[in-house]
Parts: sequence; C-alpha cells; structure tokens
Amino acid sequence: MNLFDSSIKVILKNQSKYGSYIASPNFKQYKYSWIRDGVFIAYAMDLAGYHKSSRLFHEWVMKVIKRYSWKVEYLLEKLRKGKRRDHNEYLHARYTLEGYEDSAPWPNKQFDGYGAWLWGLSEHIKITSEEYLLDKYIDQIEMIIKYLSNFWNEPSYDCWEENPDKIHTSTLACIAGGLSHINNYLQSNEISELVNKITSFIKDKCVIGEHFAKFYDPHTDRAKGIDASLLWLVYPFRVFEPEDPLFRNTVALMEKKLLEPDGGVHRYPEDTYYGGGEWIILSAWLAWHYIETGRKDEAWKLIEWIESTADVQGNLPEQVPYNLLAPKYYEYWVKKWGPIAKPLLWSHAMYIILKSKI
Ligand code: BGC
Repeated sequence: MNLFDSSIKVILKNQSKYGSYIASPNFKQYKYSWIRDGVFIAYAMDLAGYHKSSRLFHEWVMKVIKRYSWKVEYLLEKLRKGKRRDHNEYLHARYTLEGYEDSAPWPNKQFDGYGAWLWGLSEHIKITSEEYLLDKYIDQIEMIIKYLSNFWNEPSYDCWEENPDKIHTSTLACIAGGLSHINNYLQSNEISELVNKITSFIKDKCVIGEHFAKFYDPHTDRAKGIDASLLWLVYPFRVFEPEDPLFRNTVALMEKKLLEPDGGVHRYPEDTYYGGGEWIILSAWLAWHYIETGRKDEAWKLIEWIESTADVQGNLPEQVPYNLLAPKYYEYWVKKWGPIAKPLLWSHAMYIILKSKI
C-alpha cells in the first residue's frame, strides 16, 4: 500500500466514534484529541474526499464548544472585573476522545487551535458547499470569535505548548487567519477591523530587522527567535502573501538554520524535546511553500524524505532523531515518555495535504 492510502487508513482507524481524532494511539500523553492537530487532519480528509470524517470532527468540536462556552462567559466576567485568570480557566488545547476536559496537568491556555478551527470550518464549508452549517452552528462560531477577540493579545502557550509568558507570531497567524476566513461568510466590519489590528500588531511587534520573529515578549517589549511554525503566516492562513519581503527573508533564515541539507526541518534552534529532531509536519509545511512558489524539485525532495521516514507498515512518526540539535536530551525523553510518537495523525495529514497539492 502506498503512503497516501496508508495515511488515510491510519486516520480513519484512529477517529473515535465521537468524531475526535486521537493525536497518536501508541503514546500515552497523546491519547487525546487536540483541536490544532484535528483541524489539519480534517482538512486533509476533505482534500482526499473523506468529507464525512471531516464533518464528524467538526461536529465533535461544536459539542465541545457548547459544553464549555460557560468558561468564555466566566472569563469575560473576570476580565470586566479586572480579576486574575488562571491558565486552566481558558478553553483547553486537548480533550478526551469523548470531548471532555482532562484533569491531568497540561499547558492548556493555547489560542492557536481555536483560530485554526475557524479556518478549518470555513474550508470544510467551501469544499462541501454546505453553507447551512454556518446557521446551524452560529452560536459556537460566535462564541469562539468573542473568545479570540477578547484574549488574542494575552500571552499564551505556543503551538509547541511552551513559553507561556510570550505572544506568539504563529498563534496570531492562526487567529487572524481564522477570523478572516470565517469572515468571508459573515462579512462583519468589526471582524475585518480586528484582523487588520492583529496584522498590524504582527508587523509592529513580531519582527526582528528584516524577518518575522518566533514571539513578542511583552515584558521586555522585544521580539525574539525563529521558528518553523512561522510558515503558518502564509500557509494556510494567508495573513501575508508569499512574496512579502519579511516572509521571504523568514523562509531564507529557516532554510539556513532549521532545514537539514539532505533531510527535514527542525522546530526551532533551541529545541530539546527528544533531542530536537526533524519534524515531519514542518518538513511538509516547507514543501507546501515550495509547491506554491513553483519550487517543485525542492518540494519533491522533501516529500521523498518524508516517505523515507515511514516504517514498513506505512506509519509516520512525529519526528526523527537524526541531526539532533541537543543529542543528550534524546535519551532523557525516551526514558521519560517512551519512544517518539508513531503513528502521529498530524504527520499523515500533512503528507495527504502535500500529495493533494502537488
Ligand atoms: C506538539 C503539539 C501537538 C501535540 C500532539 C506536542 O508535542 O508540540 O504541537 O499538538 O504534540 O500532537
């Protein structure tokens, strides 16, 4: 079986009867459904023609939002009264497969998944032409818009679930991109003004010299770092165009610091998680950029590299421990959490996305 078909199979097999996708079935910490991972998995399934799978996931998210929308009201009440808000009071990043919060401690204050979900839902509606979903789920959509409008400029954990005291450029990309895509249907002036505000914030605060930075630190009023998730500014969220000089310089820096000449892409230079290996999803993301900018040979090179990381059963891991950035941490994580997660559904989803686009 080729990797495209085995990827579909892995995803279908690991979608629960509730609609949620398990992040990775063989890795204890990933036996949950993340909104972020799920949005891209559902998008891949839509591209491959498995709309029912994607719909089930989105309906699962709607139920989760409905169940926990009281938290948004509670947070807003606290915000109005100027009261301190605890990380766990925010909407969570991951849920049990049944769609409930989990009591195990986890860095839950993450906004990117909810922004990405607005994008994912609008893509699902576009691909299936089922606009009635907007009316059906307008309460949940408006709840998430309200949530993001009020909290987008607060520090949060990033998409790697780290750095809680910073404002992350890729998180802002998800929020601005999600809002602007759903607004293609809602046509609200208020939402477009907010998108402009977030985009201006990125240009004013999340830039170092001539390139985008990983995050903005509100305590020092400075931007810092490089991270492969900066690709999200364009793919898929289109907060900027691929030709934007700041974006072009960012990609060039990424190629220099994060791309291995005959391999894949690291998350960021200081990464120590499993020694800081090469990530399948990010290698796919760079290939996505190469496809859209006509650099097909470079895209194929990355696609072939991704294929080389699959095992004989056609399972893709989260990352591979080659060219480690911090080798001594590899064993530390293996001892702590076991071997690298495999299969990782998000890796399979990104492979499907690439093969659908090239
Ligand atoms: C990654 C997250 C991801 C989660 C589940 C974490 O290690 O940093 O981005 O959502 O795994 O795949």
